Amino acid sequence: MDVPGSKHITVIPNGAALAADIVGVDLSQPLDAATFKAVEAAWHQHLVLRFRDQKLDDPALLAFARRFGELDQAPIHAVGDANEDPYPEITVMSNITVNGVSIGNLGHYEAEWHTDMSYNERCPIGSLLYSLEVPPAGGDTGFSNMYAAFETLPAELKRAIIGKSCKHDSSRNSAGELRKGYKEVTDPREAPGALHPIIRTHPVTRRNALFLGRRRNAYIVGLPLDESEDLLNRLWAHASKPEFAWYQKWKVGDLVMWDNRCTMHRRDAFDPSSRRLMHRTQIKGDRPFFDAASVAA
Ligand code: OGA
Ligand code: MN
Repeated sequence: MDVPGSKHITVIPNGAALAADIVGVDLSQPLDAATFKAVEAAWHQHLVLRFRDQKLDDPALLAFARRFGELDQAPIHAVGDANEDPYPEITVMSNITVNGVSIGNLGHYEAEWHTDMSYNERCPIGSLLYSLEVPPAGGDTGFSNMYAAFETLPAELKRAIIGKSCKHDSSRNSAGELRKGYKEVTDPREAPGALHPIIRTHPVTRRNALFLGRRRNAYIVGLPLDESEDLLNRLWAHASKPEFAWYQKWKVGDLVMWDNRCTMHRRDAFDPSSRRLMHRTQIKGDRPFFDAASVAA
């Protein structure tokens, strides 16, 4: 499909619940306003965009990301020293070690379904992940459509979450590692992290999405702990259905960007003896909100 207003971009939806390839764009060059607008519109429509065969150094990745808004600093690292990072807005995702010291986050482990940095009061609207080295097998990244998850929730579950907020635990990263300076959480009600509405209204599309963040140490405010656990388990069982998901098999030079306001993602584990290196940037966001008028009583 050609996008009106731009001679240069072609959007190819992949036929799954979300995500499209954008063809015909060289992201190492500044995009003209019409092309950028077309990319942004495709992003809002498809939630995840993939650009293949890109050649981006860090300044080029940062320059493209900045078209979408101000960038966030990399989150607290589980390993490594963020202060020595030449580009503090780039998060290195890698299992590679140099002299026994890990150069990035998440290692080779499975990362469970999550939304980036949702444990902050203001969370990034989106993330861009660019692949520099990929393992021969494994390490695929799954994305899932949380508009679709919300829209297909059984009525009884929808009713149970209207107006409710959830705690998004900040103590562990998505591979389950305790972040530096954090204590083990024994009671989710006491976990550090932001509270956000479970139904989240997207500020641009005005559509509602299920906003779960991550499962571990989550807590639905105002419920007894056992009821919160039960409701969360039912919401997660629904949200993790394969029909809402699409998997990215990485090639070197892929740039994938996702909208954190209406998607979750996860990553398969891979062989620790192979190398995987990705650079991520995250676009600063605002406080998640729920427009109650958007859901009929
Ligand atoms: C991320 C993330 C998955 C991956 O960058 O936020 O979860 O595929 N990464 O490395
Ligand atoms: Mn992530």
